[in-house]
Amino acid sequence: MIPDSFIQELLQRVDIVDLVDGYVPLKKTGANFAACCPFHSEKSPSFTVSPSKQFYHCFGCGAHGSAIGFLMEYSGAGFVDAIKELAARCGLQLPDEQGHAPQHGPKLKALADTMARAAKFYCQQLKSSEKAITYLKERGVSGEVARLFGIGYAPDGWQNLAGAVDDYSDRELQLAGLVIKNEQGRLYDRFRERVMFPIVNQKGEVIAFGGRILGAGEPKYLNSPETPLFEKGRELFGLPQARTAIRDSDTVIVVEGYMDVVALAQHGIGNAVATLGTATTATHVQKLLRQADRVVFCFDGDGAGRKAAWRALENSIEVLPEQKSIGFVLLPEGEDPDSLVRKRGGEAFQRMIVEATPLSDFMLRELARQCDLASAEGRARLVADARPLLGRMQSPLLRLQLVKRLAEASTFSQAEVERLCALSPVARPAPARAPRQKPSLLRPLLRLLLQKPELAPQLPLELLPARSNEARAIAVLCKTIAAAGEPAVAYPALLERLRGSEDEDILHDAAAELMHQPFAEDEIDAEFAGAVSQLLDGEQRRAFALLQGKIQKLGVGGLSSEEKQQYLQALSARARIKPAG
Ligand code: UTP
Ligand code: MN
Repeated sequence: MIPDSFIQELLQRVDIVDLVDGYVPLKKTGANFAACCPFHSEKSPSFTVSPSKQFYHCFGCGAHGSAIGFLMEYSGAGFVDAIKELAARCGLQLPDEQGHAPQHGPKLKALADTMARAAKFYCQQLKSSEKAITYLKERGVSGEVARLFGIGYAPDGWQNLAGAVDDYSDRELQLAGLVIKNEQGRLYDRFRERVMFPIVNQKGEVIAFGGRILGAGEPKYLNSPETPLFEKGRELFGLPQARTAIRDSDTVIVVEGYMDVVALAQHGIGNAVATLGTATTATHVQKLLRQADRVVFCFDGDGAGRKAAWRALENSIEVLPEQKSIGFVLLPEGEDPDSLVRKRGGEAFQRMIVEATPLSDFMLRELARQCDLASAEGRARLVADARPLLGRMQSPLLRLQLVKRLAEASTFSQAEVERLCALSPVARPAPARAPRQKPSLLRPLLRLLLQKPELAPQLPLELLPARSNEARAIAVLCKTIAAAGEPAVAYPALLERLRGSEDEDILHDAAAELMHQPFAEDEIDAEFAGAVSQLLDGEQRRAFALLQGKIQKLGVGGLSSEEKQQYLQALSARARIKPAG
């Protein structure tokens, strides 16, 4: 028996977009992702995945579910096997037969809490450190931008974190990479006298830190080790902060350093993220291409930067879909985005991003550097070098562009290049279509509850109309939310609890509607209050009609004194709303 709490944690930990994308390449469509449905045959994509709600829904065939449901449906795995596989994917250990949490398994929630505490502590410390504030000021960072990135300061001293937690010897701190045990068994803070940059994941949790030394010294940046929360090749610094700007510009700029991201934000360029001292991985690129149609790599102009750019190119071409583009900006020798934007300003920097070298040009230029194009051998080598790269390209359009450019540069014909590279055609994805919708009175209520389950206890269930499927689904949902015991169970976890119930379909449809029309967070409560008052109004009207019917049959004398009172109240209430007449 797998406990609900484990399923909840698992669903919190897995990103359904990552999961599905591994089987069915997804394309971003507004706030969601879409693909042709893997569960029925179709030509235009009606299969939709919601990153914020963490479920999928096919508007064509109705397939619907959480990450667990997807894996079961896709691979034919049973419930337990699907859970096992997902747990393995995200490094969670399954509870034992009796449902007890594993002794040594990382408790992610506890780890995340520990990291959050540390982040808060470092932020507080920054406020009282003249030295750190001066450092940031000198680097042109305003208080506002420091707050945006949650920048903090780990003060001088060996055990400062002891003041931030209940128990400094708690293993959690070591697991989180914040505290280190030396050979004598003495505990000490990993980060000391450093400006702290928290790395935040998609869920808004602090999962790691990068700490910069104030002056010169080694290492310049000390980073958190990989922990159960933090896998370097997947994460990017600044992504949550950049989300809005990325959406607005449909572009994401990838830079190398923490301070590059911060300085760009300081100059109004909010759509930059940084890889964390590692090469850009295909996972990074995939993650970014889901959020924007254009990714621009902006690296230093030295040998290392050029190499980093080439690595990024190699890791991009396989995951670069049609209609998306990648560009490269190599900065002048000795500059990085931070120094350049401070020298030339945001607008000049923005222009460089707009005028970035397209992937095909960059690739050709870099390949040509290795070959002597003046000789026939050199030109043949160019095509030979390009061949493996062309073969891995997903986008036919990009491939065609490159073939054309290669033909020009090599003096082969286009057909010859294609033959030499033995290229085969690649399928094209089709555009998305609008979802269909079913209107219903109780639907908004259902959607509100799915979006904010905490509201459930406030709903007067007795006022729901009888004999309505929606009303029954609402009642079931409220009961499930109450049974979950937690103040806020997310929809995918509710879904798993309702697996197999007769109201699943209605909930699926409502959740699917929610995917396209979420309520604004700050309007949910008002919407809910409105819906409840509508229910109350309906109830009053029904009660009034009942009394009127009785009066018609029996006369006013047929009412009990209580009923008379009700009738008079209802009459005066109606008179207040409608003018008499
Ligand atoms: P750089 O050496 O280019 O430094 O490292 P930087 O970003 O310009 O730093 P500032 O401006 O001097 O503060 C680029 C990135 O590589 C990683 C960090 O992510 C850094 O931002 N790095 C670098 C480390 O992780 N550790 C290091 O010791 C150095
Ligand atoms: Mn720098």
